[in-house]
Amino acid sequence: TKALRIGIAGLGTVGAGVVKILAARGDYLAAACGRPIELVAVSARNSNKDRGIDLSGVRWESDPMALARADDIDLVAELIGGSEGVARELVEAALKAGKHVVTANKALIAHHGTALARLAEEKGVALNYEAAVAGGIPIVKTMRESLAGNEIRSIHGILNGTCNYILTEMETTGRDFADVLKDAQDLGYAEADPTFDVGGIDAAHKLAILASLAFGTEVDFANVHIEGIEKISATDIAFAREFGFKVKLLAIAEKVDGGVVQRVHPALVPEGTPLAAVSGVYNAVAVDGDRVGHLVLEGRGAGEGPTASAVLSDLADIARGLILPPFILPAKKLKAPAKPAMDTHKSS
Ligand code: HSE
Repeated sequence: TKALRIGIAGLGTVGAGVVKILAARGDYLAAACGRPIELVAVSARNSNKDRGIDLSGVRWESDPMALARADDIDLVAELIGGSEGVARELVEAALKAGKHVVTANKALIAHHGTALARLAEEKGVALNYEAAVAGGIPIVKTMRESLAGNEIRSIHGILNGTCNYILTEMETTGRDFADVLKDAQDLGYAEADPTFDVGGIDAAHKLAILASLAFGTEVDFANVHIEGIEKISATDIAFAREFGFKVKLLAIAEKVDGGVVQRVHPALVPEGTPLAAVSGVYNAVAVDGDRVGHLVLEGRGAGEGPTASAVLSDLADIARGLILPPFILPAKKLKAPAKPAMDTHKSS
């Protein structure tokens, strides 16, 4: 059978991780998908860097846009990042050219997900983004496919590994915010602009994507209420602990009369609940569905292995011929209430 021929744009941590999995598990994937996934071309800024991957026999394109134009490529994996610029142009061009797209780019999907989804559906191609939300946790698949029989009531997530690492370190060592942030950056999990992490923006990107999937509304990043963890001190955390709470950066989306509230802010989470137990760079998502009840998924939300694992899930689905609508969009946009309700900080 014909191979699924892919081009990868961006060979950072995630891109290199994807190349490694394709090399190590090529036979398994061919058997699991009914056809091989073949890496045809790559594009990245620096062609001389040693990434610990074997690219012999793979075409090197200096211009990523060439991947969208190439006749011998069925799918473009966009692993560059950023909501605008090259990443956005590449994804749009690839979809317009009738190619499937797989991306790990949460900022792009949060800002332009609805328009890109419409473009993909028009062209009859896939736009898959499992790696954009909560790294290795299969939450997009869970929301889009597994929970289809449910009306979702709420989502409570820990969606930024850097923040959760910082809060965990502050709690266990008593060190203050600025001190721990540096460590988190050295670990390599932080965004290029770390204010996206500590300011709650990265978590808000991911929440806007999950809320759209959960409630069948348009991706509405502009209506996420966002507050970061910059003002949290080690003393706050110590006091919270004395009263039986952990301080977590929660991303919450819930249905209220007339709309959906989306908010990201530090919250007091009662000890003994699943989200309170999530420590370090781990992420977790607690979903409340009317049929399934409470469901919690926990796992690594960042880093090479977990994120590449999610990209492979998307590639495998497309190789198998599973082309789903990127979002489940209603005919009409559901308006978010003007002011988010800030009274409940409960954790599922
Ligand atoms: N900076 C992100 C985090 C990486 O810390 O969770 C994964 O999107």
